[in-house]
Amino acid sequence: MCGIVGYVGKNKCRDVLVDSLRRLEYRGYDSAGIAVFEGEKIKTVKAKGKINEGLALKLEETGELEATAGIGHTRWATHGEPSDINSHPIGNGRVSIVHNGIIENYRELKNFLISKGYGFESETDTETVAKLLDYYYDGDPLEAISKALKDIQGAYALGIMFRQHKNKIYAVRKESPLIVGKGENESYIASDVTAILEYTREYYLLEQNEIAVLSEKGVKFYDLHGNDFEKELQTADWDISAAQKGGYKHFMIKEIHEQPAAIRNTVSPRVKDGLPDFTECGLTIDRIKSYRSIYIVGCGSAMHAGLVGKALIEKLARVPVVVDIASEFRYKDPIVTADDLVVIISQSGETADTLAALKLSKSIGADTFAVVNVVGSSIAREADMVMYTNAGPEISVCSTKAYAVQVAFMYLFAFQVAYAMEKINEKECRELTAELMGMPEIIQTCIDSEEKYQYIASKIMNADSLMYIGRGLDHALSMEGSLKLKEISYIHSEAYAAGELKHGTISLITEDVPVIAIATQRDLFEKTVSNVREVKARGAKVVMVCREDVEIDKASVNYKVGLPTVSDLLMPLVTVVPLQMIAYYTAVSRGCDVDQPRNLAKSVTVE
Ligand code: AGP
Ligand code: GLU
Repeated sequence: MCGIVGYVGKNKCRDVLVDSLRRLEYRGYDSAGIAVFEGEKIKTVKAKGKINEGLALKLEETGELEATAGIGHTRWATHGEPSDINSHPIGNGRVSIVHNGIIENYRELKNFLISKGYGFESETDTETVAKLLDYYYDGDPLEAISKALKDIQGAYALGIMFRQHKNKIYAVRKESPLIVGKGENESYIASDVTAILEYTREYYLLEQNEIAVLSEKGVKFYDLHGNDFEKELQTADWDISAAQKGGYKHFMIKEIHEQPAAIRNTVSPRVKDGLPDFTECGLTIDRIKSYRSIYIVGCGSAMHAGLVGKALIEKLARVPVVVDIASEFRYKDPIVTADDLVVIISQSGETADTLAALKLSKSIGADTFAVVNVVGSSIAREADMVMYTNAGPEISVCSTKAYAVQVAFMYLFAFQVAYAMEKINEKECRELTAELMGMPEIIQTCIDSEEKYQYIASKIMNADSLMYIGRGLDHALSMEGSLKLKEISYIHSEAYAAGELKHGTISLITEDVPVIAIATQRDLFEKTVSNVREVKARGAKVVMVCREDVEIDKASVNYKVGLPTVSDLLMPLVTVVPLQMIAYYTAVSRGCDVDQPRNLAKSVTVE
C-alpha cells in the first residue's frame, strides 16, 4: 500500500517521477521503479531498496531518457519478498503497471492466465493484473481495463501504460487512494497530493472504479462502460507535512482510521470458502493438531495482542497457551520443546528481543510462526513460517492498526486451532469467520464516534495517574489501553484485573485517580460493576467502556463510552478504538509529540 506517481506533459518525465517518488518516501517502502515511453518501447528501471541505493543508481547507468510520459512506484511488499524482480512497474512490454493494494483472488487469476499460456516472473499478486490486462487488450485500453476489473477482487490503485498508446497513462482505483493532478499542459497521478504539491495544487479525487486517461491533451474520465464524464477540480491548501498525513493532524489518527481496511486486507486473503486457511504460510490443520502447546511471544502491543490470542485459543480450542514478553522469554530457559509451536508477533519484524526469542525457539527445535507487518524483515526471514499482516506502513511510533490486525489474526488462528482440535465444527467455524469478516464495517462506526472520545479525554487530561480495569478479554484490552495512554500522553496509568484491586492496589484510588473500567463481557459484567462501585466509593471518577445498550448505574459511573453490540468474543476489536482515541486526544490536548513520543523508537532493534 505505498506510492504511485505518473506524469504526462511537455517536459522530460524521469526527474519528475523520481522527485515525486521521493515525496512519498515518508510512507515507508522497500523498493522503487519507473517505466517510461522511450521511443516505441516501454523502458522500465527498478530496484530493491531505497531510491538512492537502488533506483537512482540504476538510472545513472541507464543514462538520459527523452520520455515525456511515465509511471513510478514505491513498493510496500505484501506478496513476494522485496527484490528487483518483484519491484514495480511490472509488465510484459505490451502493458506496464504500478499497483498499490492487494489482489485477493490472485491465485485463481494466475492459474487462469497460466492456462492461457502466460508465464510469471515475479512472486507478486500485481503481475496477475498486468497479464490480465494484456489478455483482454485487443486495441482498446478502456475495454481491457473494464474487463479486467470485473475479474479482480481486492484493493487496488493502478497506473497503467499500453505500449501501443504512447504518452497516455490510465489510472483507476478501488479502496487504495489515487488522485489526478492538473498542471499547465501536463497532468499527474499520485497516491496522495504530497507527491505533486511542488508542481500543482489542483487535482481530481478519483472515486471507486472511475478511469482517468492522461494524455498530452489533458485528462478525461470514463466509467467502466466507456461513458465519459466531468469531475470537480479540488485545490490542495495543505502544506507538505499535512498532505503526507492525508489531511489528518497526525499519522496516529490516520492509522486508527485505516484499521477497517487493514483488518480487511489481513483477514480476507486467509479465508478460503468461508474457513480460515493458513496453508499458504505452511500452517496446515495436521501441523496444528501435532502441537502439544502454543507459546505467543512479543513486546509491548504485540504481546498484548498475544494476550487476546491466549484468551481466545484457550476458550475455543481448550489448548494451553503461554504468552511471554520476549525480553523475559529469551533469558528464562523456557520449557518449550520440539513438540510446541511458538508464535512470534512483531509489526516491524526487527525487534531485537523478539528476534532473539525466535532464534532461541528454533534452537530448541520448536516450530516458529511469525506474524509480521514488514515483508522480508529479519523476523520474517528467520521464522519457519510467516504470515504478513498487510496493514500497510505504520509510521506513528504508537501501534494502532498493527495491533488491530494482530488481534484480527488471533481470531482467525483461534478459530483454526479450535476447528483442528475438533472443539468447534465446520458450521461454527464458518459462523465465527463470517462474523469476523463483518467487523471492519462495525469498527468504522466506532471510529465515527470520535467526539465522544475527545470529550472523555478532556475529563482525564490533567490526571497524574489512572487505573484501567477489566476482567477476561477486557483485562487484556485494559493493558493495551494503559500502554497507549502512557506512551503518548506521558500520564502514568496501570492496567489491573478488576477482581484483583482489593488485594492492595485499591489503596491508590482517590478522587484524583480516574478509573477506566472496561466491561464488555456479559458474563462478567456484574462482577466488574461491583469493582466499579468499590472504586467509586473511594472517590474515583469512573469512565465505563461497555455496550451501548447497557443501562449503567449513574451513581457509580461518571461517563459511559458505548460500543456497538457484537458477540462477547469479538468485542476486543471494537473496544480498542475508544482506548486508542482517548489516549490520542489526551496526548493532543497535552501538546505531546503524538507520532514521535519522547524516549521511544518505532522499532527497538537493541536490547
Ligand atoms: C506500542 O504502541 C509500542 N510502539 C511498542 O510497544 C511496540 O508494540 C513494541 O515495541 C513491539 O514492536 P514490534 O511489534 O515492531 O515488534
Ligand atoms: N501487493 C503488491 C505487491 O506486493 C503491491 C504492494 C504495495 O501496495 O506497495 O507488490
